[in-house]
Amino acid sequence: MQEHQGANQGIAQSIYQSHSKKLQWQNLTLNILGGQAILIAYIGLKAGLFQAIDQAYPSGIDELSLAKKLGFAPRYVQVWCQAAYAFKLLELDEYGNYRLVPNMASLLLDTDDPLYMGSRIRFFASLYEDYQFFLQHLQSGSIVPRESSKSSLDVIYEMTRLDFKMITEMVLPQADKIVSRLDEHGGVILDIGVGVGCSLIHYARRFPKAHIVGIDIDPSAVKQSQQAIAEAGLANQITVRQDDANLLKEECVYDLIIMNLVLHETGGSSSEYRNVLRRVRQALKPGGVVVVCELPYPDSVTEYRNKPLFQMLAGLQIHEVLSGGGKITMGELRNLLESTGFSNMRIADQPIPYRFVMMAEK
Ligand SMILES: C[S@@+](CC[C@H](N)C(=O)[O-])C[C@H]1O[C@@H](n2cnc3c(N)ncnc32)[C@H](O)[C@@H]1O
Repeated sequence: MQEHQGANQGIAQSIYQSHSKKLQWQNLTLNILGGQAILIAYIGLKAGLFQAIDQAYPSGIDELSLAKKLGFAPRYVQVWCQAAYAFKLLELDEYGNYRLVPNMASLLLDTDDPLYMGSRIRFFASLYEDYQFFLQHLQSGSIVPRESSKSSLDVIYEMTRLDFKMITEMVLPQADKIVSRLDEHGGVILDIGVGVGCSLIHYARRFPKAHIVGIDIDPSAVKQSQQAIAEAGLANQITVRQDDANLLKEECVYDLIIMNLVLHETGGSSSEYRNVLRRVRQALKPGGVVVVCELPYPDSVTEYRNKPLFQMLAGLQIHEVLSGGGKITMGELRNLLESTGFSNMRIADQPIPYRFVMMAEK
């Protein structure tokens, strides 16, 4: 009897082991597929292959015609089409014509869709270099300065361009007093960490009576913003200067302060974020509002596996830590605002899944 039980246990254990080993093998295979998938999609976007296939809708296009249309080598186009088909980015009909799978055109190509992924694919594909740097810096833990070239600022802008509209159309109406103050009497808005400056132009057009001030620690961001403002003919309404949010000294100047994906870049620790938020509070007029938009990091490491978005953010940390930035979890952001004296903190309702937006008052 005991022998029998022992044999059963042995079988159960080996079934369990082979089962779990198979699952783990599948998991690793999926991970490899993820790495391939992003590069296949990246090539399709960068080379205009998706765009050309989308233009051929509804009849679709075969490999040879696609190669001819774009002036690419037929063999290479064939290999890419077949890979994109394997990865469920393209559909193939019985005549050998490819089309984008349903919804793929808006997900990959429509920059106004809140679920637009084209810019994220470009951004994450560009992080492959960071993953190499991470290996080189693993021992020293040293920081690689952020690349602030025009092209990298533009990649960030592509990912954040819907945020400004989301902030003015969805978030600010949830702080109606400040909106009527800005609409009726004007006032002053500060945007911290302006990037390419398009946010400033958007806020200036939305609040024509208000003066808009932008700061950025990066001189090339300031220069690029100034150019964009001059081209938009808004130099009288918008001022941009190079400044570090950690050193902000103004008191009771602003009605509204916006930080879009900036707070986590101002340091790597809670004390640094608290310092920035204390200064932000000090710079607000009484009753002034702060809007802090961050990435939706979960509060516990064990939650990272709960959603693909959380997994993606865990991977993004490899890039953030290399450039001296950190992560602010959703719970931490609330605590940071609370501990720096803000009141009436709330999570703003908004439709972009990659964002977590909190607002609070002085
Ligand atoms: C991810 S980008 C976001 C840019 C812009 N807010 C947007 O939504 O497109 C972060 C920006 O914050 C700026 N930044 C980082 N640390 C800063 C600091 N301590 N003070 C001011 N700006 C800072 C960076 O130079 C960069 O332009």
